[in-house]
Amino acid sequence: MALAKNKFYITTPIYYPSDRLHIGHAYSTVAADSLARFYRLKGYDVWFLTGSDEHGQKIERTARANEKTPLEYVDAIVATFQQLWEKLDISYNDFIRTTQERHKQVVQRIFQRLYDNGDIYKASYQGWYCTPCETFWTESRLVDGKCPDCGRPVELLQEESYFFRMSKYADRLLQYIEEHPDFIQPVSRRNEMTSFIKSGLEDLCVSRTTFNWGIPVPFDEKHVIYVWVDALTNYVSALGYGSADDSLYQKFWPADVHLVGKDIVRFHAVIWPIILMAAGLPLPRQIVGHGWVLLDSGKMSKSKGNVVDPLQLVEKYGSDAIRYYLLREIPFGADGLYSEEALVSRINQDLANDLGNLISRTMGMLDKYFAGEVLAPGALEGPDEELIALAKDTPLQVDALMERRELTAAVSALWKLVSRANKYVDETAPWALAKDPARRERLGTVLYNLAETLRFITILCGPFMPGLPAKVWDLLGIADRPDLHTWPSLTWGLLPSGIRVKRGPAIFPRIDATAALGVENR
Ligand code: MSP
Repeated sequence: MALAKNKFYITTPIYYPSDRLHIGHAYSTVAADSLARFYRLKGYDVWFLTGSDEHGQKIERTARANEKTPLEYVDAIVATFQQLWEKLDISYNDFIRTTQERHKQVVQRIFQRLYDNGDIYKASYQGWYCTPCETFWTESRLVDGKCPDCGRPVELLQEESYFFRMSKYADRLLQYIEEHPDFIQPVSRRNEMTSFIKSGLEDLCVSRTTFNWGIPVPFDEKHVIYVWVDALTNYVSALGYGSADDSLYQKFWPADVHLVGKDIVRFHAVIWPIILMAAGLPLPRQIVGHGWVLLDSGKMSKSKGNVVDPLQLVEKYGSDAIRYYLLREIPFGADGLYSEEALVSRINQDLANDLGNLISRTMGMLDKYFAGEVLAPGALEGPDEELIALAKDTPLQVDALMERRELTAAVSALWKLVSRANKYVDETAPWALAKDPARRERLGTVLYNLAETLRFITILCGPFMPGLPAKVWDLLGIADRPDLHTWPSLTWGLLPSGIRVKRGPAIFPRIDATAALGVENR
């Protein structure tokens, strides 16, 4: 019997189609995609879900302001999401829209179950609501009368509503968090959540009657279900939970990682697990909260006019470069600053100088000294052992760091190998060896070691820069050898001798910073 493959189910937040996405949203999805691709590389059966969160008062109002129906409005914006993900090489398996029938049915079914179990009751709500955040607040949590999350004005709500007995589950959730130290990552976010729960969980208002753009409460149709309860359920509705064919649910639930920004960890680490507990479903294995991409001028917002459009950046610099920059520059888990200057400098330094030069020097020397042929390596000398040891160890390091969700550190570890290989070129000085016919075998060994190191680097770069491998395999002459592109092939020495490499155009051309950034940016 064939052994079942390990599975890995990862999700991004589903984005509000109230506006086009900016570089901060792209960051969330790029990080999730890199994890998805990494686990695929390792041979896992991966399911990667993204989508759009289309209901709620904010969307209804924005659509009206644009003189469109909510559905007309979101259809156009969701198309731009999908276009962006295509340009950024996002390898999602499914895209869920909360306006889809498959989703609505599951939300209603779960809501009904919570009601039948006595965890949802009707009462009168009086309190505050932040529409941009779609969040309820009690008076005591407001800061200067404003939303404690975004600082914007809140609205007074007085409605008859349904409430969810969150308070009943607080102790169970705390115990779960304590018993599963990896459940909320990084640790700083876990601590925030524990103190948030300890400060007292109130029952959550889970329905609204003052607008229509949502999923009706199945047993009381004047109410629509609170948009966060609707949205969170996407993680199981997309798997067909409770439907005639629930094979994806059976296979992939519970999720391995819900990757979200730090501002929405609370919804994922408190509300969602309690919904699942109340519905009798298993909890996700992990919630990872990443930091924010900030600008010098603070948080990106349309009103400040400082929104960075990822689509334009991809057109200008390419998807691999943007992905690399985001993962490398913003320390994963913490906040980081975005600037186009830093982006150009990373492209020129890390990609053009470090990796690009390593590739072109290796190919150039093989071409020049051996007409492109990779010779079989001879005896090891000098710095060979050190280079080979690092090449062998780097996959282990990257693996351990990815397991710990330390994406920036994983990319840095990989770049240590790039730097070591460049230093190896300087140390072994192949151009000097080439002058001495007696050192031809040594020259062949040095260039073999470089080509093999490049194969390791390329395999490991794939999850972060998915466009790169095909280009390098073509140059290395192993495009038709998929067996040499895999995780198990990260065994030193598998690169066959006798292959023919070729010179090609620079994979990462240097950017002229003055031209790229323009006068006003300098
Ligand atoms: N619709 C909800 C999520 C529901 S998930 C069941 C939502 N949408 S959002 O479009 O406002 O934000 C989606 C994600 O983008 C969040 O994880 C948020 O943290 C992330 N980001 C928004 N701006 C960001 C930055 N400037 N930097 C990094 N991430 C950012 O919330």
